[in-house]
Amino acid sequence: MIVTTSLLLKKAKAGAYAVPALNVDNLESVMGVLLAAKSTGKSVIIQTIPRTLAYGGEGSYIAMVRALYDGGADIAMHLDHGGDEGICARCIESGYTSVMIDGSALPFEENVALTKRVADFAHSRNVSVEGELGTIGGKEETAGSVSYTDPKQAEEFADLTGADSLAVGVGTAHGVYKGTPRIAVDRIYEIASRTDVPLVLHGASGLSREVVRSCIAAGICKINFATQLRQAFTSALRRSLAAHPEAFDPKLYLPDAVEAVKNAAEEIIDLCYS
Ligand code: 13P
Repeated sequence: MIVTTSLLLKKAKAGAYAVPALNVDNLESVMGVLLAAKSTGKSVIIQTIPRTLAYGGEGSYIAMVRALYDGGADIAMHLDHGGDEGICARCIESGYTSVMIDGSALPFEENVALTKRVADFAHSRNVSVEGELGTIGGKEETAGSVSYTDPKQAEEFADLTGADSLAVGVGTAHGVYKGTPRIAVDRIYEIASRTDVPLVLHGASGLSREVVRSCIAAGICKINFATQLRQAFTSALRRSLAAHPEAFDPKLYLPDAVEAVKNAAEEIIDLCYS
């Protein structure tokens, strides 16, 4: 079934594992991720960022997931980094089972108010909500503005907003890491000791297996991967086109990219559930 993210995260917290949240960009990445969920029998969260929806159409990805999902482990459909109430509401109406409202660039009180409004609306439609406190590196930070999530504020944020999960700033970054990332695993423990809300790690592509495992042990229940899947898709596509320069039918060269996304997603699933 396509269930709420909140349901998957409650089970993850009880079972001390994390549910992988895998960003998709097109039909082929949806196919690859669903094949991996099926072959492993594990739940995954399929997610899209607003830029993906601008690229492929707001209703397209939920329609593809519904059409291609054929049972097996439960999955969820999530809006990643929703920037305003409008896009959250439209995704909720189109069938997403969770949305992220990212108010992390706002002052604390404004982030709380925005997240609470989205959570109230989402909960009235049985949809769960992820909020964010602190900075995730990469696209979000401006020079000198990186801030780690404050554990006391995290507790207040969860209580005041009713959010079902919380993305935390602990040193991760979206995209490709320059140098070795330093992740404040102690900070995750501190936050988890103050609030029961399931914690979310963004920017996991490029982290070592050991770091990901220690983040899960510290209390992370959902882990976002985008770059790793995009790299797998694109490298396989390049190889396939180079190996078959005469090919012009996408149905002949895209299956290699689907297979590469499936393999990458299986690796991620293995890491998050072990
Ligand atoms: P990566 O692209 O670094 O895997 O980050 C994914 C992410 O956090 C999406 O929100």
